[in-house]
Amino acid sequence: MGSSELSVLSLAPYLLLAALAEVAGGELSTFIVHVQPPEGQVLASADDRDAWYRSFLPEDGRLVHVYRHVASGFAARLTREELHALSAAPGFVAAVPDETYELHTTHTPLFLGLDAHQAQIGNRGSERGAGVIVCILDTGVFPTHPSFGDDGMPPPPPRWKGRCDFTGGAVCNNKLIGARSFMSNDLRVQPVDDAGHGTHTASTAAGVVVPGAQVLGQAAGVAAGMAPRAHVAMYKVCNETNCLSSDILAGVDAAVGDGCDIISMSIGGLSKPFYRDTIAMGTFGAVEKGIFVTMSAGNYGPNISSVTNEAPWMLTVAASTMDRSIRSTVRLGNGVLLDGESVYQPQVSTSTFYPLVYAGASGKPYAELCGNGSLDGVDVGGKIVLCEFGSGPGHNISRILKGGVVRSAGGAGMVLLNTFAQGYSTLAEAHVLPTSHVDYAAAAAIKSYVSSTANPTAQILFGGTILGTSPAPSIAFFSSRGPSLQNPGILKPDITGPGVNVLAAWPFQVGPPTASPPLPGPTFHVVSGTSMSAPHLSGIAAFIKSKHPDWSPAAIKSAIMTTADVTDRAGYPILDEQREPADLFATGAGHVNPEKSADPGLVYDIAASDYVGFLCGLYNSQNVSVIARRPVDCSAVPVIPGSMLNYPSISLALEHARNWSTPVTVERTVRNVGEVPSVYYAAVDMFDGDVTVDVVPRELEFSQENQEQRFEVVVWARRNGAKVVQGALRWVSDSYTVRSPISISFP
Ligand SMILES: *[C@@H]1O[C@H](CO)[C@@H](O)[C@H](O)[C@H]1NC(C)=O
Ligand SMILES: *[C@@H]1O[C@H](CO)[C@@H](O)[C@H](O)[C@H]1NC(C)=O
Ligand SMILES: *[C@@H]1O[C@H](CO)[C@@H](O)[C@H](O)[C@H]1NC(C)=O
Ligand SMILES: *[C@@H]1O[C@H](CO)[C@@H](O)[C@H](O)[C@H]1NC(C)=O
Ligand SMILES: *[C@@H]1O[C@H](CO)[C@@H](O)[C@H](O)[C@H]1NC(C)=O
Ligand SMILES: *[C@@H]1O[C@H](CO)[C@@H](O)[C@H](O)[C@H]1NC(C)=O
Repeated sequence: MGSSELSVLSLAPYLLLAALAEVAGGELSTFIVHVQPPEGQVLASADDRDAWYRSFLPEDGRLVHVYRHVASGFAARLTREELHALSAAPGFVAAVPDETYELHTTHTPLFLGLDAHQAQIGNRGSERGAGVIVCILDTGVFPTHPSFGDDGMPPPPPRWKGRCDFTGGAVCNNKLIGARSFMSNDLRVQPVDDAGHGTHTASTAAGVVVPGAQVLGQAAGVAAGMAPRAHVAMYKVCNETNCLSSDILAGVDAAVGDGCDIISMSIGGLSKPFYRDTIAMGTFGAVEKGIFVTMSAGNYGPNISSVTNEAPWMLTVAASTMDRSIRSTVRLGNGVLLDGESVYQPQVSTSTFYPLVYAGASGKPYAELCGNGSLDGVDVGGKIVLCEFGSGPGHNISRILKGGVVRSAGGAGMVLLNTFAQGYSTLAEAHVLPTSHVDYAAAAAIKSYVSSTANPTAQILFGGTILGTSPAPSIAFFSSRGPSLQNPGILKPDITGPGVNVLAAWPFQVGPPTASPPLPGPTFHVVSGTSMSAPHLSGIAAFIKSKHPDWSPAAIKSAIMTTADVTDRAGYPILDEQREPADLFATGAGHVNPEKSADPGLVYDIAASDYVGFLCGLYNSQNVSVIARRPVDCSAVPVIPGSMLNYPSISLALEHARNWSTPVTVERTVRNVGEVPSVYYAAVDMFDGDVTVDVVPRELEFSQENQEQRFEVVVWARRNGAKVVQGALRWVSDSYTVRSPISISFP
């Protein structure tokens, strides 16, 4: 998409012309146009402002969205000549071409049942999130699902100004309090979920407790959102395949105007400067108004610096496993058993073995991927076919569709083989034939068996849902990694939460058409992605907000991050998809600990104005003005380098190889939200001799509630071996440990 590569159009004529050259002549394209009233012009009312917006346009029909709360401007369809003319009008600031964003699921139907841990939280904490409004920007919602039942729910707080735009009957209730659609391509579309993604994320954040959840008989248990008592509202901004930035901005704008407390988005695009990133711009306005914003980190892992949604005002969420496996075991002809996963678990004979065939055997390029046509000329009738995970040119199909290719070629089953990149991460999915998705070690064993014998055979056996598996949590291969390209002075992602094989509400039955008659009851599905982990964190933020209504978004974020777990259930460091200790660029502060997060002891707070100083450290005044929706003169603002923002983690990207004699100092301020009086002692965990961290002072005393104390972290570093050295600072009192990860990168 050429137009999405355009930079922001500014008044600088050369830039404008360069950008315009890429937009076709008389064709209409959508632009988000940022405007600010010239000095002296007063827009007294919303009507005045709307009229002023319209004055930029050649005709009324061009207006797509008007932004009122989180952007100063509008979206409109314009030709290049019109945009050129418009950009000369007084008050024009910038125009950004509409862009496509995507949903952060792994695009495959899974059935999710909340695991035992989540169910416990649901039962024990069915009051969690009371009085808080969680707003989800997604594909819409299936409103009559029991996860959105309002039994015992009080009406929404009086500040709620949202709407319920389903036609033909009021289907909203005291749980699902609002539903609107912002799909500019079809204004008639209702906020109904025809994809499943939005129903899943909304119920994960704030679904009520529903017993008897299961998918294809697996992952059975009690389904419950993280904040079962919170109200939920849906803003439909995506269809099944993607979302437009102009629509997303309209959704954020409406969510802010409606009175949301939490905005949750499992959506992202390419990493880009914040003044060009519509999600970063829109959420800045939301956070300035006190709304907490949760975003998925992206599914572009395990590649380094693949993290998206990197702005410091967002909580950026990675994805990790739970201690549950939906087991499907490959038994090789030589008796070796290799465990994998699949949600679809049909009755199979345990005595029959099938010939094993490698799809790549045809020798055609990419045939090993089981894309369309790759099994042509390969005899797979009645055989189990080995297919590699992933896609290649012309063979870009989902894992479920690979099974479809095998099935239509007459295959008896499929073994989905991880490549090195996926390591030990496997996904339980609703395949269309007997399948086992196996890890890289098992894949290697199977391939070696196949090449070692003339007539390889195997069978696929189904072991049902197994709880208590380990290691858990561990980081999923797909979870996007830092360091952040846009601001290496801020550690991203911030936190990890459950995002593999997550069970939540789904609008319809899933699985192969040949599956036995569906079990009665509500429909659920297991899905994976940072799309699934983000709404867990939104629900947890709702819980904290309901206990501490006066806390700022930054304080809530700090509480979540400084109480996170850095070890797994067995007490070992959290591992990644290779079963190596996961670094901070994979885990952020660690795995969310919902119980601890509402009582952190100390918080690192950030005022909205600090973000302006931070932005002035990255960009020029004009850039910052676009994000801030008002003129900003960066030369008159105290500039805050990323590492000096009062963030709950510390990230230093050193620009020079340091001498021991030249330390770097960062400052932080903590506020006491725990016991009074209390004393905290600093402890530093740094296990590399090339970095020494001092904390000054090493002791903080608090005699009052909300008292603040400032301290310095002095880093002495010299590049010797590792390029990145990571550790943590802990403030420890009798009752609390307040932990901040520290990451130091050498040039
Ligand atoms: C989804 O929306 C995009 C962009 O608006 C559009 O191009 C695409 O055709 C839509 N897809 C479906 C399945 O409706
Ligand atoms: C990761 O990086 C490799 C090598 O640069 C590239 O081929 C691959 O497409 C990337 N993967 C993702 C998910 O971006
Ligand atoms: C592969 O085949 C499926 C089913 O016939 C079809 O829906 C899909 O578009 C095809 N994909 C490609 C990449 O050819
Ligand atoms: C596969 O398709 C997706 C979405 O259509 C696209 O983003 C991706 O680049 C494609 N990958 C390959 C290897 O063609
Ligand atoms: C942002 O800053 C860049 C680099 O200085 C500049 O080229 C661009 O025009 C600016 N964009 C806006 C919208 O101010
Ligand atoms: C490191 O120390 C040497 C000698 O003490 C000095 O010349 C040099 O400028 C220092 N480098 C840095 C980056 O401080």
